[in-house]
Amino acid sequence: MGDQDQELDAAYALKTPEDSVRLYGDWATTYDTDFAAAMDYRSPVEVARAFAGLGGAGPVLDVGAGTGLVGEALKAAGIGPVDGLDISAAMLAEAAAKGAYRDTIVADLTGKLDLSDSAYAGVVSAGTFTSGHVGPEAFEELLRIAVPGAIFAVTVHSAVYEAGGFAAHFASLGPRVADFRTVPFRVYGPAAEGEHSDDIGWIVSFRKA
Ligand SMILES: C[S@@+](CC[C@H](N)C(=O)[O-])C[C@H]1O[C@@H](n2cnc3c(N)ncnc32)[C@H](O)[C@@H]1O
Repeated sequence: MGDQDQELDAAYALKTPEDSVRLYGDWATTYDTDFAAAMDYRSPVEVARAFAGLGGAGPVLDVGAGTGLVGEALKAAGIGPVDGLDISAAMLAEAAAKGAYRDTIVADLTGKLDLSDSAYAGVVSAGTFTSGHVGPEAFEELLRIAVPGAIFAVTVHSAVYEAGGFAAHFASLGPRVADFRTVPFRVYGPAAEGEHSDDIGWIVSFRKA
């Protein structure tokens, strides 16, 4: 088993927000090179492309921003300002150093967010709605902090889309969202090796009605 497989297996096996703080605290300084570059990790670029393609504009909240790969991709697309939220201060320190974020916010997506109603015109996320991470309940708070008409574009790993309750939760949103769409994508590119190299995710997009 390669290093990337071990890191990914550990990430998918997380159980609590405290586990995430611990794992990502250790991983922060090597995540971009040993994981994202080594695995040809595509989720951040795919989600930024989807958001831009839907006409997304700032202010944007990037949830589970990690080391800031989505912010970097949004900046390259000319979209901003972007705030990055994550439970790991260590990951956010890497994100802040990239200069792609207006603000970085340490917060737990499984609880109430200390953010104003209707503060954001867009919500994006890559790699956060996956095994061992954040469940669909987070969308209640994310809808609250989004302005009516706000565009959402997030990845949800195929392993949790049905099994983790995302499909059911999105269905339950009914008229609170419009233009709901799911598009499958490959999480990793051709350079990826190991048991996760063929992983599939969904780009989920919708507007807050
Ligand atoms: C796989 S990383 C993805 C980071 C970045 N979006 C990317 O695509 O490279 C998942 C991120 O979710 C964050 N995370 C996990 N649980 C969280 C929670 N309960 N609240 C906020 N962030 C959380 C982790 O700290 C980590 O930075």
